Amino acid sequence: MSMELAQASLRFEKLTPAHQERCARFENQEDELVKFLREDAWHQQCLKISTTYLVFRDGEETGIPLGYVALLNDSIRIEENSTLGERMRGKGVRYHYLPALKVGRFAVDSRFQRQGIGGGMLDFAVQTAQDISNDVGCRFLVVDSKRPAEAFYARNGFKPLIHAKSETIKMYLDLAEK
Ligand SMILES: CC(C)(COP(=O)(O)OP(=O)(O)OC[C@H]1O[C@@H](n2cnc3c(N)ncnc32)[C@H](O)[C@@H]1OP(=O)(O)O)[C@@H](O)C(=O)NCCC(=O)NCCS
Repeated sequence: MSMELAQASLRFEKLTPAHQERCARFENQEDELVKFLREDAWHQQCLKISTTYLVFRDGEETGIPLGYVALLNDSIRIEENSTLGERMRGKGVRYHYLPALKVGRFAVDSRFQRQGIGGGMLDFAVQTAQDISNDVGCRFLVVDSKRPAEAFYARNGFKPLIHAKSETIKMYLDLAEK
C-alpha cells in the first residue's frame, strides 16, 4: 500500500472504555507501549494528563487499533538549542519557554508497520497542534524519541532539540514552518 493511500484511509477515535477489548489485542515490539495502551492510557485520560487517539482502518468498525498516539501539553526551553534560540530571539521573542504539544506515546501495531500508518498518525498530531494554535498559543510539536524511531521522526520533519547521549532524543517540529 502506498503511504498516501494509508494516510487517506485512516480514522482516528478518542480512547473510551468501550475500546478496551480491542486494545488488548494491540501488539508492539516495545512492551512498555503495549502496557501503556492496555493499562494506563484511560487512567491518564481521566486524570487529564494525556489524551489517547486510536487509529483504525476506515470502514472497519470492529478492527483492532492499527496504532495510537497519546498527546499532552508541554513547553520547550529554546536555549536548549542555540540555533532555535537565536532564530526566535531574531523574531523578537524574549521568553525562555515556548508552548508545545507533546507526542507522549506513539506506536503502530507490529503487524502493520512500514505502511505509512505512523506518518498518517503524525499528520494527525500536526493537524491537532495547528487546530489548538488557532485558539491557544502552540508553536511546536515535540517528542522524546526512542533511538530506533529517530529516523522516522527526522523523515517527517522533526529536528533534534538537544544532542545528548541518552536512551531518548528530544525532537521538535516548528508548526510555523509547516
Ligand atoms: C516508529 C513507528 C511508530 C513507525 O511507524 P510506521 O507505521 O512503521 O511508520 P511509516 O510506515 O509511516 O514510516 C516508515 C518509515 O519510517 C522510517 N522508520 C520507521 N521505523 C523505523 C525504524 N525502526 N528504524 C529506522 N527507520 C524507521 C523509515 O524511513 C520507514 O520507511 P521505509 O519503510 O521506506 O524504510 C513504529 O515503527 C513503531 O511503533 N515502533 C516502535 C515504537 C516506537 O519506537 N515508537 C516511537 C516512540 S517515541
